[in-house]
Amino acid sequence: MVDVSKRYDKLSNVYGLLDAVPVISKGEYAWRRKLIEYIVPNNNEWVLEIGTGPGIMIKEAMTKYPDVCYAGIDISKKMIKIAKRNVPHAEFIVCDANNLPFKDNSISSIIYAFTLTTLPDYKGSLKESMRILKNEGKIGIMDGKKPSGKISCFIFFFIKYTAIVIGKTYFGRDVISYILNFKNLKTLFFKSFFMGMSYVMIVQIRK
Ligand SMILES: C[S@@+](CC[C@H](N)C(=O)[O-])C[C@H]1O[C@@H](n2cnc3c(N)ncnc32)[C@H](O)[C@@H]1O
Repeated sequence: MVDVSKRYDKLSNVYGLLDAVPVISKGEYAWRRKLIEYIVPNNNEWVLEIGTGPGIMIKEAMTKYPDVCYAGIDISKKMIKIAKRNVPHAEFIVCDANNLPFKDNSISSIIYAFTLTTLPDYKGSLKESMRILKNEGKIGIMDGKKPSGKISCFIFFFIKYTAIVIGKTYFGRDVISYILNFKNLKTLFFKSFFMGMSYVMIVQIRK
């Protein structure tokens, strides 16, 4: 775990650089906003982002839904420092996604944006999220996935191995099938984008 936090501490200063490339950021931000529309209630309920990084999602959500209470957690102290600077009115905590300092049934919505393919034990983190979610609470996921087309598969192969070798992530892991196995999680929305290499998925829990 120490390795992961140190790695993201180092990445924290350059993490937002891809946002400066309009061809990537324009499409990506449209999908970030789509996830937010589905997941963020328009009142003072709690929304939590796990692996919040520099707080991009929370900042974006706050512009449209300012009356919601936002919290972001991350294992990297430096990411949390940047998030606090970027979004001063949200709560940010340094902690592990597998051991969340929140009570059972206390949170309305949880966001994982490009985090489930980063966490070593993503199954444990999902279990922990299900513990703190209220009945009918939602999980919004945005991440990479293996596409079906030949050209996109070819491009995905390079992205995946760059992410695995250089980023030491678990990019390309099949999170979707794992989530679909839960009988108490109902899929409300699923759409892939970037030639099928990324997706947004919204699920709702029945307790
Ligand atoms: C790819 S970044 C995603 C950042 C942000 N959610 C976004 O939308 O761009 C993954 C984040 O997960 C964090 N992370 C990795 N392992 C973690 C863990 N065990 N607990 C909490 N955060 C973790 C990293 O520090 C990093 O900030």
